[in-house]
Amino acid sequence: MIVECQHVTKRFEGRVVVDDLELEVSAGECFGLLGPNGAGKTTTLKMIYGVTAPSEGSIRVFGVDVVRDPRTVRKRLGVTLQENALMEVLSPVDNLRVFGRYHLLSESEIESRIEYLLDFLELRSHADLPVQALSGGFQRRLSIALSLMNQPELLILDEPTTGLDPAVRLSLWSRVGELRAQGTTVLLTTHYMEEAERLCDRLVILAEGRVLVEGAPKELIRRHLARDALEIEQDPVRHGPVMAALPGVKTQQAGRRLMLYADDGAALLQAAERAGADHAGLHLRPTNLEDVFLALTGTGLEGGA
Ligand SMILES: Nc1ncnc2c1ncn2[C@@H]1O[C@H](COP(=O)(O)OP(=O)(O)OP(=O)(O)O)[C@@H](O)[C@H]1O
Ligand SMILES: [Mg+2]
Repeated sequence: MIVECQHVTKRFEGRVVVDDLELEVSAGECFGLLGPNGAGKTTTLKMIYGVTAPSEGSIRVFGVDVVRDPRTVRKRLGVTLQENALMEVLSPVDNLRVFGRYHLLSESEIESRIEYLLDFLELRSHADLPVQALSGGFQRRLSIALSLMNQPELLILDEPTTGLDPAVRLSLWSRVGELRAQGTTVLLTTHYMEEAERLCDRLVILAEGRVLVEGAPKELIRRHLARDALEIEQDPVRHGPVMAALPGVKTQQAGRRLMLYADDGAALLQAAERAGADHAGLHLRPTNLEDVFLALTGTGLEGGA
């Protein structure tokens, strides 16, 4: 087991923000922590890499107790924080160099790692500019490059793709795939449900410091909702009559959007039209992790068995 959290609780000034967390991440896995703002994701990651101590419980990483021996653990992992922590007046190359020295790599190891990472994160065109002159996306890529400097066995990524354009996000997803193919274990947080579905073998959804559900993305979708989702975009005053005409159908609302769930999407579409749903606003699609997330943390489910 790469990460083991047992009965981990964290309090800040008496307020519980992580509540009796049990978590296991095995070697080679990509594991996701999902949850609304303030759910305790970053706090959990900080406890795992040993900068914040749990108030109760124990955390072992690579079998080592993080509180007792944080240095041993940190040597073998890489972390990209939610906020970039870069030396602004230095170039990406010099940031990487400083970080390599911090990890006590030899000068030749440092240079070869830099060469590799400039290509791996497509930073070469900006390699010698001061960090403060780089756009947010390039700074993010540099942060990720820094966390890979020591060839970590465990890579921790706190919202790695927030603020990245779609092309860079896609390219980063494939980089994570390459790292995994090399055997790196990945622990990440994200607010992008598509990212979680694509990257994570398993994930937990947290809310107010507690695990609501755990499982593989597809399994969670199957466990919680029917196969197809029908989205209806319309004036919210029309939601009520549609729901009333379709008793027994699971629904959830998000503003102008009403979602209905059924295994037979085509039949559901016809039934919704008969029930007076606005034809122009109908969109049938497979149920996804975002539906599960909303159902568990957001507006909740109404109706259905
Ligand atoms: N150093 C601190 N002192 C006091 N409270 C804190 C501290 N760090 C975090 N908290 C509180 O702990 C709770 C969990 O915060 P955390 O940053 O772990 O959430 P998160 O799930 O990462 O949220 P986000 O999605 O917004 O990044 C929040 O209510 C936050 O205000
Ligand atoms: Mg966070």
